Order: sequence, then C-alpha cells, then structure tokens
Amino acid sequence: MSSLQAIRDALEQSPDNISLLLLFGRASMELLHLDEAREAFEHVLAIDPDHTDAQLGVARVLFTEGDASGAAVRAERVLIQEPDNASAHLLLSRVFLSENDRAKAIEHFDRAAQIDGTMSDPALERELGRTARDARRTSPAPAAPEPASSNEPLEDGDSTQDFYEDPFEEPPYEWRPETFFTPGDPNRFETTFADVGGMDELKEEIRLKIIYPLQYPDLYKAYGRRTGGGILIYGPPGCGKTMVLRAVAGEVPCNYLSVGLHEIFDPYFGSTERNLHQIFETARANAPCVLVFDDLDSLAQDRRNVRESQLRNLVNQFLHELDGLHENQRVLVIGATNQPWSLDPAFRRPGRFDQAIFVQPPDAAARAQIVTLLAKDKPISNLNVDALVEATDGFSGADMGWVFDRAAELALSAAIHTGQAVPITMELLLDVAKSHTPSTQSWFEGVRDHAQQVAPDGFFNEVKKFLNAPSSKER
Ligand SMILES: Nc1ncnc2c1ncn2[C@@H]1O[C@H](COP(=O)(O)OP(=O)(O)OP(=O)(O)O)[C@@H](O)[C@H]1O
Ligand SMILES: [Mg+2]
Repeated sequence: MSSLQAIRDALEQSPDNISLLLLFGRASMELLHLDEAREAFEHVLAIDPDHTDAQLGVARVLFTEGDASGAAVRAERVLIQEPDNASAHLLLSRVFLSENDRAKAIEHFDRAAQIDGTMSDPALERELGRTARDARRTSPAPAAPEPASSNEPLEDGDSTQDFYEDPFEEPPYEWRPETFFTPGDPNRFETTFADVGGMDELKEEIRLKIIYPLQYPDLYKAYGRRTGGGILIYGPPGCGKTMVLRAVAGEVPCNYLSVGLHEIFDPYFGSTERNLHQIFETARANAPCVLVFDDLDSLAQDRRNVRESQLRNLVNQFLHELDGLHENQRVLVIGATNQPWSLDPAFRRPGRFDQAIFVQPPDAAARAQIVTLLAKDKPISNLNVDALVEATDGFSGADMGWVFDRAAELALSAAIHTGQAVPITMELLLDVAKSHTPSTQSWFEGVRDHAQQVAPDGFFNEVKKFLNAPSSKER
C-alpha cells in the first residue's frame, strides 16, 4: 500500500508520465483496485491510443470484472498491432478457458510460451494441465493469428506487415458511404415518424438521444446528459424496423449515414475492417450524426459461432469503433436485427448498444394507421378500418401490405376478365386477410425454441412480456 501511495504522490507531480501511470495501474490491479487501475491505463491510452501495455491493462481489468468478451476484444486488438505479444496470448488463453474453449486456450498458451522463453504461469498451467515446458517442446509452433486481410491477394510478403504497422491511416482510395446525407440533401429519405405506425418508445428514445440535445444543448449540459450512444432495435420481420430507420432521416436535423452491408463487404475496397473504420470516421468527422446499421446480425455475429477469423476480426473492429465513440462525439448509432440472439453479447456492454428496444407487431392503433396508409390512393369501396384492424391481429406491417396487394391483384384479374373496372371491396380484403397466416408466427416459435436451448436473456424476456400481455392473442 505504501508503494502505491508513493507512486500516487509521484503522479501528482507528473500526471502524464506514462511509465508511472503503468506502474500505478499494475500496482492497483494487484490490490484489486480495479477502478483506479482502469483509470490509469485509460489515461495512458488517452495520451497514446496505441499503447499495447495499457490496452492489455484495460483488458485484464475487464477480465477480472467478468467481461471476457471485452477483454478478448482488447487482447486481439493488441495482437493485430503485435502478433507476437506473449502477454496478449496469455490473456486470451485465460479468456478462452473461461469460455470453456480448451483447444483455443491451449493454442494461445503454447504461443505465449514459445514467444517468451521465460514465461510461466503456474495457476493457468494447472488449469490447462500443461506446462510452459511442454508447450515449448510442441513443434511446429502454431501459426500467428491469421491477419485481417488474409483472404485477399497480397502483392508481396510484406504488405500485411505494413498494414499492421499503420492500421487504417490514410485510406488509399476516395471513399464515401453511399447513403451519407447532410440535412436538406435532396436525396435524403422523406419518410418521417408520422409515416410509421406505433413504436412510440423508440421514437421518443431517438428524440431524447439526438433531436432534443441539438434543440436544447444548454439544458442537456445542465443535466449532464450525453448525446448519442447506441440503440439496438429488434423484432420479427416486416414490422417496420427498416422503415423507422429511414424515417429517422426525415426526422433528425443532423447528418445521417446509413450503412449498406455491401459497402463494408465490397471486395474492391480493401479490408472489411478498414471499410467499417472509414464509416465510423465519416460519422465522427460529421458529428452530430446518426449512423444506421440495418440487418446488423451479419456484422455483429457472436464470435463464438464464427469460424472465419476474418469475420471475427470484423466483429472486433466493430466493438472497438463503438468503444471509441466518446460522449462528446455526438454520434448516435442505431442497429436493427430480427435475430438478436445471434449477436455477440459484447455488443450489449454499457457504452455500446446499451439500449435494446423490442419492435413488436403493430398494435391496433398502429394497424389502423397502416391500413390508412395502405388504402391511400387505392380504389377501395366502403373502407372499414376497424374491421381490417380486427382481422389483422398479429400481422406484421409487411403482412398487411401483402393483403392489400393480393386483394388488388384479384380485383385486377376480375376487371380484366369482365372488361369492367371493379373496386377492391371490403369483403375481398377481409377474405384475403382471413386466408393469411401472419409471418410473425414462425418468428415467435423460433423465439420459444431459442429460449429452451439457452438461458433466457433480456431479449427473450421482453418478447415473453409481449406474448403474455392480455391484449396479445395466443400466437
Ligand atoms: N409500423 C409500421 N408502420 C407503417 N408501415 C409498416 C410498419 N411496419 C411495417 N410496415 C410496412 O411493412 C413493410 C416492411 O417493413 P420493414 O421492411 O420495415 O420491416 P423490417 O422490420 O425491417 O423487417 P426485416 O426484419 O425483415 O428487415 C414496410 O415497407 C411498410 O410498408
Ligand atoms: Mg429490415
């Protein structure tokens, strides 16, 4: 304790001394003063964001706090900079062991032992049933982790190395996401929240996080509330997630960037991680900005289920970018998915997508709004909104769209055969609705199956609440 105090005193004299900060971080870590340790390591990172020892320091704190995914992200990040960092391999070995992946734990342990001839970690060795000496005898040495751009043709043997030494500096190409819109851009989507039925909670949350802060900056400052952050929206297909994301463009008075997956996975534009980085850079440089990722599941998969290391790297990069969005950057990230369970749990850590909102099938009021929207400009005789609302309980917005399209098709067919224009009748609409099984049904069944396979999580509980609500019919 006294040595810790001595370092603390010294730091008071030179608060930005990196060696002192690291020393203090390690000493605090040993005493399990996790908050102080983390603060010290993060202070170093604020001075030098690429400092691998500080990065590993934070990773160890996270791991000790039980955040294995967070620790893995940091350690893997260090390996991107220094593939032969023995400490990072050792930490990853512990992470994988905690996730019951022994094979990976041994792989990283061996790698650490082979890189550092003096390494020993009796506790870990006991748990793995393998000593560092055993590991060093194993040959050939397992390869270093696959580089991020391994699937791309490399011009020469050194290009990967260059990439690591200077990650993401100066993109070698002129690049701008397709759907980057400044306010007033004529191509910006014109849909607004008024066009989207229901979702009041989500709409208000988006207003709170980005619209009001721009309208009332002083108030936000006075209350110490942050702008931006991350919201994840999830729910069955066809219930308006994509639609509400577009409506955000019509609603928010700031820059809007919607990311198409093809932009990230474009084989012509360097590595996927770099593309993702560039997207976040664009958002940061244009703050305040809303950054939208539709169909997030393909980008943010659970790393435990991903075999290709390229995709794992992409997920790591994504987590890293989210972590890099500090409160003063005023970027709101909104992601949407209909498979929330396939996302890596690390995305739910505070500061990333810390808010998850369930977009349920439209309720009666929302369905009335959707019916009115769908009926607009169509030749419908004696429209009865209430009857249609009742006939479409459990339907997604897309199901309702299908009912109108199908009824129009049948009316059209009759018109062609009789040579007379016939309106779409209410009877026809109700018949079509009756014959249709809502597509959300199989989604809810999938949720039940999922809940039986794994421990129910926050996502599942929200869905269950909806299913058990008195207004919800047995689905
Ligand atoms: N709440 C709603 N208000 C108005 N229209 C809606 C609503 N929900 C769905 N729709 C209609 O259904 C169509 C499909 O919805 P959308 O593509 O937004 O679904 P999604 O939730 O993104 O589905 P997926 O999970 O398959 O991507 C929309 O284009 C819209 O016409
Ligand atoms: Mg969608």
